[in-house]
Amino acid sequence: MTTAEDLIARSNRLGADPKNTNYAGGNTSAKGTATDPVTGQDVELLWVKGSGGDLGTLKESGLAVLRLDRMRALVDVYPGVEREDEMVAAFDYCLHGKGGAAPSIDTAMHGLVDAAHVDHLHPDSGIAIATAADGENLTKEIFGDQVVWVPWRRPGFQLGLDIAEIKAKNPQAVGCVLGGHGITAWGDTSEEAEKNSLWIIDTAAAYIEEHSKAEPFGPALEGYAALPEEERRTKAAALAPTIRGIASADQPMVGHFNDSDVVLDFLAHEAHARLAELGTSCPDHFLRTKVKPLVLDLPANATVEESIARLKELAVSYREDYQGYYDRHADQDSPAIRGKDPLIVLVPGVGMFSFGKNKQTARVAGEFYVNAINVMRGAEGLSTYAPIDESEKFRIEYWALEEAKLQRMPAPKPLATRVALVTGAASGIGKATAKRLAAEGACVVIADLDLAKAQAAAEEIGGPDVAVGLAADVSDAAAVQAMFDAAVLAFGGVDLVVNNAGLSLSKSLLETTERDWDLQHDVMAKGSFLVSKAAAKVLIEQEMGGDIVYISSKNSLFAGPNNVAYGAAKADQAHQVRLLAAELGEHGIKVNGINPDGVVQGSGIFAGGWGAKRAEVYGVKEEELGKFYAQRTLLKREVLPENIANAVFVLCGPDLTHTTGLHVPVDAGVAAAFLR
Ligand SMILES: NC(=O)c1ccc[n+]([C@@H]2O[C@H](COP(=O)([O-])OP(=O)(O)OC[C@H]3O[C@@H](n4cnc5c(N)ncnc54)[C@H](O)[C@@H]3O)[C@@H](O)[C@H]2O)c1
Ligand SMILES: [Zn+2]
Repeated sequence: MTTAEDLIARSNRLGADPKNTNYAGGNTSAKGTATDPVTGQDVELLWVKGSGGDLGTLKESGLAVLRLDRMRALVDVYPGVEREDEMVAAFDYCLHGKGGAAPSIDTAMHGLVDAAHVDHLHPDSGIAIATAADGENLTKEIFGDQVVWVPWRRPGFQLGLDIAEIKAKNPQAVGCVLGGHGITAWGDTSEEAEKNSLWIIDTAAAYIEEHSKAEPFGPALEGYAALPEEERRTKAAALAPTIRGIASADQPMVGHFNDSDVVLDFLAHEAHARLAELGTSCPDHFLRTKVKPLVLDLPANATVEESIARLKELAVSYREDYQGYYDRHADQDSPAIRGKDPLIVLVPGVGMFSFGKNKQTARVAGEFYVNAINVMRGAEGLSTYAPIDESEKFRIEYWALEEAKLQRMPAPKPLATRVALVTGAASGIGKATAKRLAAEGACVVIADLDLAKAQAAAEEIGGPDVAVGLAADVSDAAAVQAMFDAAVLAFGGVDLVVNNAGLSLSKSLLETTERDWDLQHDVMAKGSFLVSKAAAKVLIEQEMGGDIVYISSKNSLFAGPNNVAYGAAKADQAHQVRLLAAELGEHGIKVNGINPDGVVQGSGIFAGGWGAKRAEVYGVKEEELGKFYAQRTLLKREVLPENIANAVFVLCGPDLTHTTGLHVPVDAGVAAAFLR
């Protein structure tokens, strides 16, 4: 194995176990020799995890490769701690060849420490010691002189110099605890570094286990125990739209819900409010979770109405508090304030809502707060939790280097942060629509009658951070409510609802049974009424506007042959568009419709008998039906599911912001169905 391959294998092993480091937290390095292609001579190199990325999935392309002699020569030009950030740009002049990934702020620590292999990690157990008020003494007691305490210092060149010095002065040491932050371990071989890292992590964990007081979070709080699962989920779903609205006051956010035991246990004990207020500590956390969460200060049995009213008050004070924090610490060089809303919202008895610019970020923010809870539990178990000073938290959160990273992020996709729910999305037009909305950055809920088909479609579109599949019969009010509950727990809320579920039976008036009539009206007329009603509740509570789109039909206008039940149900849907556009406009909710026609390919409706019937009615072969429809159109084009999906995107996308109550025909031109 090459040095780099060996480093990747070690990193992946360490990153795979969440006890060792948080998501995307920490970095690893190896020093070794390679042949310099310019001179043919050996050259000493440093391979180190680059900026961003996660150890568990690190690949060679994620490593920065630097010339060790040049990297170490930076010590001679280092202008001092006040200007240490300039050294990050200087790393670019130390790169070997194209250098691989961008070197991170921690590169100095890896390069300057005189050991061939270095691991810097953020284990909960290690950070618990690092954030304990008497962390220095605890480090001595737990590790003797094997592990050295390094007082808090913001990551950077100076921290690298500090650690290098400590290593030089303590040749017996295998690593150090970085106050307020994490651990660093080293070894002459890759195996030794890994062994030392794991030894520090496991020894700290075992010590906490053995010496922690019984109730690190204090006695149980009367009335704050977790609600039974079903009740908890129902309450969470009822609160979710309001909480997402709170988290999205400055910028729209996607949400994630976590009701794991760790979270519920924390909220059920007396110390949770005091500890939450103290905020997190590890430098990774501030951009992901903000300094502190918003904590609802009501017991588990508070009603939804009481909880909503109190959450709204707390949101106002959270925003004032955050502005105060910014104003206390910002100077003229600080980046602008990035939004005052909480990223973590804790509801006793119910769980935690976390937020981010996409589902993955929202989920990881929640994981980070679970890390923070574990850290607080460990620190309080042994001592008192004492995170870094507020001014240092601010320096990390509004660090110019972090700001530069944010500025370099690619522009978000047009539907980023929006949560779409498409009914009947396991097939045909619905599936094409879900696909398109996801491709434009939306999170998508695929709802259909058949759970397996809905889940398969979700999997095809991109897995749980992009799409989830649910079973729901839109003609059943309870099922529709359950679908929205599941949707808001999956992504925090809903912004864009597509009433697409439908079915079609081609029969003359005399052949149409009462059952035929009811079925089509139940699924399309009543179904979209139920879906729009449940959607509107969520949209209104979120106060973020929204879109409802009806996939009605050319047949809502055109009196086609043998079509009384279907055409009448479609006309009902079409009028719902106008009625709801008028009613919901004041909430910023747009309601529009699409009138497709002749979408044969991919359509379950056509494959399931309707196509055969229509072919018979028109006197053509079933497989020729798409072509036949195309020839009836003004444009002579066959209409595909993607054409409908495109229209949905346009109606909900960034351009048609001032259009509501409109029907867009997507039928390749049918004069008889022109709108007037
Ligand atoms: N295909 C066309 O030419 C055409 C033309 C105009 C309008 N439309 C409308 O477009 C929509 C989608 O049609 P398609 O052609 O993609 O058909 P499709 O059969 O491929 O898809 C419809 C989906 O709706 C689901 N569904 C049916 N009843 C449901 C219920 N009660 N609850 C939840 N899901 C249910 C089905 O399981 C199916 O997956 C329908 O509303 C249809 O009326 C289609
Ligand atoms: Zn770190």
